[in-house]
Amino acid sequence: MKIAIVGAGAMGCLYGAKLSSVPENEVYLIDVWKEHIDAIRRNGLVMEEKESLVTYDRVKGISDPNEAGFCDLAIVFVKSTLTSMAVKLNKAVFGPETIALTLQNGLGNIDLIRAEIGEQNVIAGTTAHGATMLGPGSMRHAGSGKTIIGELDGNRTERIEKIAALFTEAGLETDISDHVIGLVWDKLMVNVGINALTGITKLHNGELLDHPEIVALLEAAVAEAKAVAEAKNIRLSFQDPIGHTKDVCRATAANKSSMLQDILNNKTTEIDMINGAIIREGASAGIATPVNFVLTNLIRFMQK
Ligand code: PAF
Repeated sequence: MKIAIVGAGAMGCLYGAKLSSVPENEVYLIDVWKEHIDAIRRNGLVMEEKESLVTYDRVKGISDPNEAGFCDLAIVFVKSTLTSMAVKLNKAVFGPETIALTLQNGLGNIDLIRAEIGEQNVIAGTTAHGATMLGPGSMRHAGSGKTIIGELDGNRTERIEKIAALFTEAGLETDISDHVIGLVWDKLMVNVGINALTGITKLHNGELLDHPEIVALLEAAVAEAKAVAEAKNIRLSFQDPIGHTKDVCRATAANKSSMLQDILNNKTTEIDMINGAIIREGASAGIATPVNFVLTNLIRFMQK
């Protein structure tokens, strides 16, 4: 399969590298970060995983999407603040038959991609992997978890089965879901509980659980998000999203969350699509979200 990864950050590199290990795949990592793309072209993508270094030299780093042309699958992995712009700038990989998959954090990406390439070619999902950039051409796979993907209408199509099988073959264990919107909210709960708090405290994901006062905030933020989801009749997979968020803290204990990485690198964070989305959705559903309001505004202040 010919695959484009739009956005070669740590998560994009993880998926690109793993997918390139299947011999019949042709995988392009697309990014505007020139030093990073040059390093991948020169030396391959170097991944630190379980304390060993593996070089993936079949994955192709490119800055110009025309070098790839139309792909069978395009995985959008840019930060959700950049989704529309990234799809617009990389139209060269999105042909009439290209399936676009978003595995991004936050609410709103599905609609933004649909607005650019049309309804029927968009599928979505979530990932529980954690990854960190180490420098140009090099990243760490910091925590493993499942990938879950699905068609927006819930149908179990041939294309979704093919992609799930391909991911699993590449070492990215993948399940299929018939309620992908609920899944996006499942992941949103996790990000609501972990990301802003790690950004503010500078703790690694696992360390959040070592501090009772931080655990109290994590629980309160996720409880608000759960109340909003229930008010909007979103079908969540987890009875206990707080417990699930703590499980993800443990599974990705060594990881610096994507929001902490953004704060440390002086980059814009995804706060407005995560805790900020809970404030917006809460307001429209009549649910108060004071903890998410505080977390959102502290991160907005920090990223200024
Ligand atoms: O945004 C992130 O960092 C990740 O979604 C997660 C699961 C919180 C792991 O760090």
